[in-house]
Amino acid sequence: MYKLAHRILKNLNPELAHNLSIKALKMGLYPKIRIQNTEILEQTIWGRRFQTPIGLSAGFDKNAEVIKPILNLGFSFTELGTVTPMPQLGNPKPRIHRFDAKKALVNSLGFNNTGMEVFEKNIINSNIKENFQDKIIGINIGNNKDTKEIIKDLEKVFNQLHRLGDYIVINLSSPNTPGLRENLKSNHFEKIVNQIHRLRDDNHSKIPILFKISPDITDQEKKDIALISLANDIDGLILTNTSIDKSSLNTNLQGGMSGHPLFLKSNKIIRDFYTLTSGKIKIIGVGGIFDANDILTKMKLGASLVQVYSSFTYEGPYHIKKLTIDLMSQIQQEGYRNISEVIGQHS
Ligand SMILES: Cc1cc2nc3c(=O)[nH]c(=O)nc-3n(C[C@H](O)[C@H](O)[C@H](O)COP(=O)(O)O)c2cc1C
Repeated sequence: MYKLAHRILKNLNPELAHNLSIKALKMGLYPKIRIQNTEILEQTIWGRRFQTPIGLSAGFDKNAEVIKPILNLGFSFTELGTVTPMPQLGNPKPRIHRFDAKKALVNSLGFNNTGMEVFEKNIINSNIKENFQDKIIGINIGNNKDTKEIIKDLEKVFNQLHRLGDYIVINLSSPNTPGLRENLKSNHFEKIVNQIHRLRDDNHSKIPILFKISPDITDQEKKDIALISLANDIDGLILTNTSIDKSSLNTNLQGGMSGHPLFLKSNKIIRDFYTLTSGKIKIIGVGGIFDANDILTKMKLGASLVQVYSSFTYEGPYHIKKLTIDLMSQIQQEGYRNISEVIGQHS
């Protein structure tokens, strides 16, 4: 039944299909998946136990509406958001496009979300920490489109939400918010890192703070970001967001490309950062993961954890179970005793 429902959704307009999926998940219309004996995939990172390295990437559950269903589908962590201080509608529709033959998506959503107040209520109402002590919640935060000073918005959202998550992500890499990626330039990046770390100290918080990076940065920008990350002892990098390079799709659409054609590009960024930081900064690898082999590739290049988005929408509700089971058998076959042993093997 769920497979059939997914096939129908895949033929609808992508944003409508997404909204219907969120509705169905909220109504409990999804398979409850149990995956047992996953010890070989377990790791402790930032003092938190991740049952498996597979999480849901930001942008699917922008308003923290389906935390429990997502975790019930087999993800060990979910990254909520991107959430901004005020609600905002995002860019004009249509703004999500599928490229089925290439297993890609192009989106120009522009941080459409219901804002941090509703987001906070949704997390609190989900009683997540009581129901899912063993799962991890990331909160991905950003600025409203018309904000002049990004740091003011980040401060507002951080102050409001940091107590509700296990880690925070500062999203500096969406291509759909004008000027946002400028903050990856060294002087801006360093300032934001310092200001956010100070804010955390002022709040007497120890929550890990990660930065989500674009795949379209230059080699010099990579070096600068790596140096600043090391000098400021940041907790982690998420590599990567969508790419504005859509040459493989032959399209004039605006927005960022995700899915299969992003795989190699995001892998290169993971390898470069792992090398530039000598493996000292934790990496969450994301971009074009479709099977367990793709996960292992990203981890061997230096990712400690991975996330998926596009393949989840292409493959449907049993996808994470399959990824998890295949990953377990593959690392057993390769003779590893724990998934952590693969990290950085091919860097
Ligand atoms: C429709 C859509 C919406 C997205 N929204 C966000 C977002 O709000 N914040 C964010 O950091 N990344 C967002 N992303 C990027 C994903 O989190 C991920 O980095 C990217 O899609 C690459 O992974 P994938 O190839 O597995 O899809 C979005 C991606 C898609 C396809």
